[in-house]
Amino acid sequence: MSVYGKVHLGYVVIETNKFTDWHRFAKDAIGMHVDTLGAHAMRFRMDDQECRFLLQRGPAEDIAATGWLVDDHETFEQIVGRVRDRGVPVVEGTEEAAALRGVERFLRFPGPKGIDQEIFTRAKAAPTPLDMVTSSFVTGDAGMGHLAITTTRPDQLRNYYNTVFDARLTDWIDETISGIKFKIKFLRVNERHHSIALANTEPYRVDPVRTKIQHLNVQVASLDDMAQSYQRLRRLGFHMALGVGQHTNDRELSYYVETPSGFEWETGWNPVTISDDAGWEPVGYEGISVWGHTPMGQTIMDKVGQFRQAARHIAQREDTVPALSRA
Ligand SMILES: [Fe+2]
Repeated sequence: MSVYGKVHLGYVVIETNKFTDWHRFAKDAIGMHVDTLGAHAMRFRMDDQECRFLLQRGPAEDIAATGWLVDDHETFEQIVGRVRDRGVPVVEGTEEAAALRGVERFLRFPGPKGIDQEIFTRAKAAPTPLDMVTSSFVTGDAGMGHLAITTTRPDQLRNYYNTVFDARLTDWIDETISGIKFKIKFLRVNERHHSIALANTEPYRVDPVRTKIQHLNVQVASLDDMAQSYQRLRRLGFHMALGVGQHTNDRELSYYVETPSGFEWETGWNPVTISDDAGWEPVGYEGISVWGHTPMGQTIMDKVGQFRQAARHIAQREDTVPALSRA
């Protein structure tokens, strides 16, 4: 039984000590709804769902977990079965952890690069109305956005998402940096063009990004929402990574900004969706952008170039959960 189309990115857990900066970033600049839960937790809402981002105190300044909404119990059991059959432990989250995530219950198992994978079937609706500047975010069947991961083991990560979620290859982009081709593969698990992007840094033998993800993406409902959040970020002094531009493959208009934790945040508008899967053929593109996405300061491309010089011989171990990453 395939679980394709029945899995949706539902929430993201971030470990950070920069609560004040994240509050400003999320509420005042990006324009989400923010709820503070005492001194140790903060949540962002994008829609009716009680929690889309959970921030917990800790020194990592990184993403800790991704929560996937699974449509029904049959699909849920199918995924759990696949993970357990390969000898990988699946544990139930505590009641307290479930409450923080705004879900009734969830299960957790290990994921690539140490990103915990959590699955749940029901999210709680928030009891209070939304209080946010952005008019609305596009979530629903497409999930809340996507994640981009740099990896020195792209095939293993591809296999992981295929094994666990029946991910399909939407397309790929070849970007050339310092004369070396740098391939990015875009994987979908539902109608969203991609929920996961895998950027292959294998030719450099090193991953230039400190955090487990290079960026995460959310989708706003209107072009005004995108443009105005860009203006607010600049006014509030957040560091932009790439100016507004349009991607070659999903045609999304977006910008990239550095989050308080260091990974980047892409706010996008109007990407292609793939509702009719039958006729879709993966194709390749040259370069990530049709226009724009002009670097504003140091970019991942610069970092890759530097690492190529400095870290050519570093042997790096990247956790891929081998039991779930075999072809
Ligand atoms: Fe993206």
